[in-house]
Amino acid sequence: VKHLLSIDDLGIKDIYKIFEYAFQFEEVLKRPIPIVPTFKGKTIVTLFYEPSTRTQTSFTLAAKRLSCDVINFSFATSSILKGESLLDTIKTISAMKVDGIIVRHFSSGVPHFLAKKLVKKNIFVINAGDGTNEHPTQALLDGYTVYKKFKKIKDLKILIVGDIKHSRVAHSDILLFKKLGAKVFISCPHQFLPIDFENMGVCYLKEFKKELPNFDCVITLRVQKERHNLNYLSSMREYHYLYGISKKDLEKMKKEALLMHPGPVNWGWELADDVIDEERCVILEQVFNGVAVRMAIIFLLLQEKV
Ligand code: CP
Repeated sequence: VKHLLSIDDLGIKDIYKIFEYAFQFEEVLKRPIPIVPTFKGKTIVTLFYEPSTRTQTSFTLAAKRLSCDVINFSFATSSILKGESLLDTIKTISAMKVDGIIVRHFSSGVPHFLAKKLVKKNIFVINAGDGTNEHPTQALLDGYTVYKKFKKIKDLKILIVGDIKHSRVAHSDILLFKKLGAKVFISCPHQFLPIDFENMGVCYLKEFKKELPNFDCVITLRVQKERHNLNYLSSMREYHYLYGISKKDLEKMKKEALLMHPGPVNWGWELADDVIDEERCVILEQVFNGVAVRMAIIFLLLQEKV
């Protein structure tokens, strides 16, 4: 694997190798000085055409913990605003001899396009979220969070709830959990159901609340307001009642089950305000695990190069 563009790029062994390395990097992150000198002199660019709190910060920290130099490129302060094309931007950055580019873009397929353009340059590309297509590193940190808890993923029952159609996290999560042998269920209003859901190998539940005691993990998804007309939903309260998780819903789940969300959360929609302090709600653990998982990914991609 020279790039990480999709969960489909990875075999089962690759995924467990990332988990194994992430586990070791977690130990580094818990040290008083959480840094290893492995990749001093290597340079990583984060190229984000969409806003991000978690992913960009997490990648920046991960690369810095491996002693890489990190350049955070934001379209809002770049020559993109003067009309520079994506291809020109990428040619310019690659001419500066960087080692890896982590890209988030509002159009599906941009990371794949960059990887093709950089084929002779020995620069890796990581997809940090492309349109509604995929967000593979979010899926890897979600999978790692579940694996750490249950020490396995095979045969676990995973429910993914919400805006499945527009969610790149859902698409990568479904690929990852199915690849690792989990039974994947989805639930959402009809307008958030992908047209091709029957080919996704998942089980669709029109209603899920009565089934809550059966799941090992419930992944709630952000309603992707920026990707559709909000007229999609008749009311936020109705959405929360049918597809959100309240404290009462959480109480119906197994004691050892996990409640997850990739963030950012629309509080009061996907989740009630008061679930954040519950032990089973592991959103901030997902964030912590994200740094270790991204260290593992950068480490393995750079190791491939050296
Ligand atoms: N989960 C996620 O991608 O969050 P950000 O948009 O804040 O990076």
